[in-house]
Amino acid sequence: MRLGVNIDHVATIREARKTFEPSPLFAALIAQQAGADQITLHLREDRRHIQDRDLELIKSSVHIPINLEMAPTEEMRDIALKLVPHRVTLVPERREEITTEGGLDVVKLSSYLKEFIRPIREADIEVSLFVEPEEEQIEVSKEVGANAVELHTGRYANLYNEHDMEGAMRELQRLARAGSVAKLLGLRVYAGHGLTYWNVSMLVEHLKDVVEELNVGHSIVSNALIWGMERAVKEFLKLIGR
Ligand code: PXP
Repeated sequence: MRLGVNIDHVATIREARKTFEPSPLFAALIAQQAGADQITLHLREDRRHIQDRDLELIKSSVHIPINLEMAPTEEMRDIALKLVPHRVTLVPERREEITTEGGLDVVKLSSYLKEFIRPIREADIEVSLFVEPEEEQIEVSKEVGANAVELHTGRYANLYNEHDMEGAMRELQRLARAGSVAKLLGLRVYAGHGLTYWNVSMLVEHLKDVVEELNVGHSIVSNALIWGMERAVKEFLKLIGR
């Protein structure tokens, strides 16, 4: 499995003081050096962590792929078309949320998304949709022109963290089924949200044949505060069999 390291929360700490440190660019370069396969970052509408300048600096400095998470808005699409990251991941966004809650409702937004995605694909940018592991969401993701889906692992992570192992196992089965449907449709399959050094091993064990990449932010950045970014990335890579 590949690992995308989400560095948003390095910027969260910087924005707590509106200063210049810590540097998300520096974090991205060390993550790359430690073996990360991709840098993931979310430019939110309210710019609460990553700023436009971070995006430009990181895009021009790292050589591994950039996965830009963004809400499906005109403003964000203009930025993506200018920056041309390797991939755009469309996520739902609400100002009052602490982090992305739930997947994008691709079924409800299907006609909007179809038009929204077309120019991004034409610019040779891969389009991934962050979705709940539900068959209908995945089928419509294919219909609207996505190349990939990122399955939302938040529910699995919560159940695991609450020590509800039966519930966590059921959720893994749901993720595996959803991933298999996506693969059959020819979509690439990624996963992420809420994954930690503790809950990731069980997920990898059950989803390694279906999911090709994980995107992990909060837990890696949290442990980077204690261990440093290099060790935090290397320890996570070991847990996913790398
Ligand atoms: N994948 C997507 C689509 C996300 O929105 C996020 C959170 O920004 C993540 C992965 C990473 O989640 P976490 O910070 O909980 O590891």
